[in-house]
This record gives sequence, C-alpha cells and structure tokens, in this order.
Amino acid sequence: MRLNKYIAQSGIASRRKADELTLSGAVTINGLVMDQPGYDVQDGDVVSVNGVVIRSEKKMVYLILNKPKGFVTTVSDDQGRPTVMDLVSDIEERIYPIGRLDCNTTGMLLLTNDGDLAYRLTHPKHHIYKTYRARVSGILSSERANRLRRGIDIGGFVTSRSNVEILKHGDHSTIVEIQIYEGKNRQVRKMFAAVGNKVIDLERIAIGELRLGHLKSGHYRKLTPREIEYLKRC
Ligand code: URA
Repeated sequence: MRLNKYIAQSGIASRRKADELTLSGAVTINGLVMDQPGYDVQDGDVVSVNGVVIRSEKKMVYLILNKPKGFVTTVSDDQGRPTVMDLVSDIEERIYPIGRLDCNTTGMLLLTNDGDLAYRLTHPKHHIYKTYRARVSGILSSERANRLRRGIDIGGFVTSRSNVEILKHGDHSTIVEIQIYEGKNRQVRKMFAAVGNKVIDLERIAIGELRLGHLKSGHYRKLTPREIEYLKRC
C-alpha cells in the first residue's frame, strides 16, 4: 500500500497532508527517514510519524452486485471469460466475491475484502438462507415440491430441509422460490433435476434478510451500515 494511503488510513492526516509530512522528513520506515510518498509499505514495516509508530486501519468494503448472465464469479479467469470483477470500478481495495454463482445464474452477489465475514457467510453451519427464484421446465407438482422441501439426493449428497413456494404455473414452466442454506456446486439446478424439472432461469434474490431489491443488472452499490451490521450478526 502506498505510504500516503497508509498514513491516511491511520487517521492522523489526509493523503495530501501525509505527502507533506513525508517530504518534510517527519516519516520513518523501520527507523530510517523515508521522503518518498509513493513508497510501497510492506507487511512488517514499522511506520513512524514524528517519532510515533502508526498503524493503518484496513478499510473494509462491502458491495452488493446484481450479476448478469455470462460472468464468472472469480477474481480472474484462466480461460479469459468476463468475471464479476469487470463490473466493478472505482474500488481500490482488493475485494473478492463471497461465495459463487454459476456463470448463467443471475442476481445477488456480495463482494468484500473482509475475510472473516466472507468465511462466516459461506459456512453452512451458520444456516444463512439464500433465496433463489427459478423458472423450471414443466409442472412442479406439490409431491415434487415436498420432496425438495424434505431434502433430496443430488448425487452423493442429501440436501437439508428447504423452503419451497410455487409462485406461478405456466403452460410449459413453473416459477418457484426456493430457500437453501447449503452451497453445494450447482445445488439448486441439481435439486430440480433430481425431481425431473430442469432449471431454465435462476436468480438469487436474497441472502438472509438482505434482498437484491431494484438494483439493475450489472450494477452495484455499497451496503449501508445497517446492512453490514445485519450481516455481521448473522
Ligand atoms: N445453485 C445453483 O444451481 N446455481 C447457483 O449459481 C447457485 C445455487
């Protein structure tokens, strides 16, 4: 991290003031005067300003993104496909997605640089429900919906209880909301396939109580302090 940013994040000065302090010789790194504001502070460097050691508070960033189809949920892709990171600009911190959505799944994705929160939100023991809206082929009978609710074998793994609500029966497809708290690879698609209904479209609309709302496809925003508090309490 650049020295001026490091000093600014310690709370003692703005970046501009940090540059002035550095140029005036007030800043030392590991006991030696450092007069270059662009110096790249390394882990383990001891930074002092006017003889007082300072520590940079890591700025935490929390974003909610409405992921479109065709973007992979990784920081970089070795096959050169577009990633969700291509949709995020203006964020200096090294953020990454919390959990995964398939390339063709749309909807709510959280991104952060808060490793503790990312770990807690993805661990199934915390039982945080994720809500998906799916359009599936054919009619989803109430008998099939009950099998999904009770838990179903998706090939070497039996899912836990889920909530299933049928929203609309069309002529050739059914719109369903399903809530699960596990995050097995392609779990929702496999669950519907196991009862004989293929997923045509899949969108994640909520994580716990936090809803995607009216965020446009491909757009993102910062979470509000209240939303961040909620996620930390989950
Ligand atoms: N289940 C799926 O099948 N796909 C997703 O992207 C998320 C959950």
